[in-house]
Amino acid sequence: MGVSLKWFLIMMICSQLYGSLCQANLFRRYKLLYNGGQKVIASYTSYEAYSSVSCAAICNGKSGCWLYTWNTASKICQVLNFLTAAITTGVAPPTMRTYYVDVINGKKIVKTPISSTWTQINDTCANMGGRLHLPVDNTFCYILNHVFGAIELHIGLWRYPSDITVWYNMDGLTTFPRLTWGPGYPNNADGVQYYGTCYNGGGEDISIYYSRYGVCEI
Ligand SMILES: *[C@@H]1O[C@H](CO)[C@@H](O)[C@H](O)[C@H]1NC(C)=O
Repeated sequence: MGVSLKWFLIMMICSQLYGSLCQANLFRRYKLLYNGGQKVIASYTSYEAYSSVSCAAICNGKSGCWLYTWNTASKICQVLNFLTAAITTGVAPPTMRTYYVDVINGKKIVKTPISSTWTQINDTCANMGGRLHLPVDNTFCYILNHVFGAIELHIGLWRYPSDITVWYNMDGLTTFPRLTWGPGYPNNADGVQYYGTCYNGGGEDISIYYSRYGVCEI
């Protein structure tokens, strides 16, 4: 299939779902967060974009862009640069839509229906047909903390009890693209903090006993 035909079909997908979902390629999708009236206060870069899907395509090309706004009246597109603090919201025009990434690499990012210990949440994600998600960077942690309405969320990060220093992702690898620990973490505070969370935008180690909601990719 030629590139232009593929693009045409993808834009068809976007316009059909227009309003709540926007898909600019097959591996990433955006979901409506605010339909006017409210916006995330953050550092953005502005573009003139003729459609929401072209704004999504610009966001796709920028590392750290997990959210964008598109104004249905002015056609102005604002793509997120990064976040360095918990999200606060402000007033936006009724024509400004805000979308965040809810499908990454073809996997839907969802909050678990229950709050439980990390190992239980690990099972919950498996029972939902997926696994715990590990956010690529702190900006996406801030977004998850905000969108899922929880200051702390279980994520795909763990270690062996015997080694405090080495942490693993769900592939059993020790490489983490850009996610960094929050200030003072990991601290193994009560001696059994074998698991990882997104806590207020940064990584934190959490006790085997603490219940939290989790982030699954399915
Ligand atoms: C998470 O669950 C999977 C299967 O459900 C299991 O194989 C894996 O060992 C668990 N991970 C950890 C770190 O407990």
